[in-house]
Amino acid sequence: MYCIKKVTDDLIWVGANDRRLALFEGVYSVPTGVSYNSYLLTDEKTVLFDTVDKAVRQRFLENIEEALKGRKLDYLVVQHVEPDHSAVIPELIRRHPEIKIVCSEKVLMFIKQFYDFDLNSHVHLVEENDTLNTGKHNLQFIMAPMVHWPEVMMTYDSTAKILFSADAFGCFGALNGALFADEVDFAKDYMDETRRYYSNIVGKYGTQVESALDKMSALNIEMICPLHGFVWRSNLNEIISKYMLWSRYEPEERGVMISYASVYGNTENAAEILACRLRDKGIKTVIFDVSVTPASEIVSAAFKWSHLVFASTTYNAGIFVTMEALINDLAAHNIQNRRVAIIENGSWAPTSGGLIREILGKCERINILEKNVSILSGLKKAQLSDIESMAEAIGADFPAPSGVKPNNQAAINTVDPAVMFKLSYGLFVLTARDGNKDNGCIINTVMQITASPVKIAIGVNKANYTHDMIIKTGKFNVSVLSESAPFRIFQQFGFQSGKTTDKFAGSTEALRAENGVRYVSECTNGVISAEVKESIDCGTHTLFIAEVNQAFSLSRDPSATYQYYFDNIKPKPQPPKGNKKGFVCKICGYVHEGDTLPDDFICPLCKHGAKDFERI
Ligand code: FEO
Repeated sequence: MYCIKKVTDDLIWVGANDRRLALFEGVYSVPTGVSYNSYLLTDEKTVLFDTVDKAVRQRFLENIEEALKGRKLDYLVVQHVEPDHSAVIPELIRRHPEIKIVCSEKVLMFIKQFYDFDLNSHVHLVEENDTLNTGKHNLQFIMAPMVHWPEVMMTYDSTAKILFSADAFGCFGALNGALFADEVDFAKDYMDETRRYYSNIVGKYGTQVESALDKMSALNIEMICPLHGFVWRSNLNEIISKYMLWSRYEPEERGVMISYASVYGNTENAAEILACRLRDKGIKTVIFDVSVTPASEIVSAAFKWSHLVFASTTYNAGIFVTMEALINDLAAHNIQNRRVAIIENGSWAPTSGGLIREILGKCERINILEKNVSILSGLKKAQLSDIESMAEAIGADFPAPSGVKPNNQAAINTVDPAVMFKLSYGLFVLTARDGNKDNGCIINTVMQITASPVKIAIGVNKANYTHDMIIKTGKFNVSVLSESAPFRIFQQFGFQSGKTTDKFAGSTEALRAENGVRYVSECTNGVISAEVKESIDCGTHTLFIAEVNQAFSLSRDPSATYQYYFDNIKPKPQPPKGNKKGFVCKICGYVHEGDTLPDDFICPLCKHGAKDFERI
């Protein structure tokens, strides 16, 4: 009996779950199972995106027959040939001899390597950015090599704004009746398994994942359909922002992951004491026994935490077996950009510390504390100071939060501009219209003043062209940006002037509220139209107090806050490649390479001045 789910009006999930698989890829435990996703587009042509693992072949074939409702299958898009997605291709061709396989040269090569059937008459080869029209839908093919294998391809449906992302954005865990990430408590119940999937499956290929993210940033994506796990139709930044961190090997959390390998409990004891001393300093800690916790979970945690401590006994004159496997696994997964400390133990010749140092020392941007703690059999009281010193050295990376004591009157009387960022601002596209000219800018100050009638106040910089248009017309719209808003929207409305550019150029829709002013619907959860009743000159800004005459909701996505923008949307400043020197714009992340920065330098991206740059 079939089990299918509707994704959109003409897209159907025809995948299946496997909860009996002992080890994914023969290595990774999947205690909550795994889903193999496949999607059928029922346009004028029918298009299937990938197949499934042989374990769920029967259910998958029943699903397709039901979803096709007697129609023929025109295309099979093969994005990834790993057998958990390609195992049913031969059977599909037997059942649907008319099918065309849409794939790249490299996919074709891999299909021929894995399977033995006459393929050539079925193939429709595509290259980067080639397109295929299937009736209403236009498909664009985007190569994503090494996310996870070299042949991987993604497909962008520019009509429905859906990205079929292959392995990217996948997750371990069966789909328990839900299909969309917003149907579950994803952060609580699935983010750990998503990180474990990412770090173990594609963690090694951060640079290639970054390239794929770059290509994605040029697309207007409203839904992501991966080959494992949940479909994303809202709050896409929740997952994309994690991929941005993971691909750059940036930790998600500041804290210390301690993993130990201990035969009789003495190395474990040293790890526990270190964790206590770190906690005494207010530093978050997690501990794993590498002989108990599967390596994939520890690799995943290493991608999460900023500091890593490895404590291992010596065994056969080397690193204890389970720890040796973990260290090699981490190096193989390209772990980078971490602070590391090492504790070694050995009753007659402790060598594990030096060997761990040798392996991890070859990884990029791994900074290992100079001094190992070295134990002979068991930690003695006299050696507690070594553990304390290690805790001190790690703790130096965790400065205590600075603050002003209430009795320090001099400090209280100053104005620290950073405190203004503690206010909970939102982010909005403010739009206005003057004659035939539409314009908009980004603002962060909109607040409701009264409920009856509904009045709001907005603060607008006088330098913005939108400000002048509102002064002249007295009308504006506020589009409330949601957490799914990509950086592109902030560049479009915030980093260029409406005096010299048409900020709506290239927009396919011209949505207007009843007041005739345009609004932004992309990644917007609500729109407010208002008419100015009062203006207050505040120096650099004007405070407009306006009566709301239309307000409507567009989605249930949470609103983006200023803090969320800085944490998750704004690209993190990247150091110049190689050993080059430079300055980074604190506002938009633009990097100016060179030894000096002229005082009158203006950021070409966001137009902020030299004072907003800092030396890298
Ligand atoms: Fe789910 Fe790389 O295959």
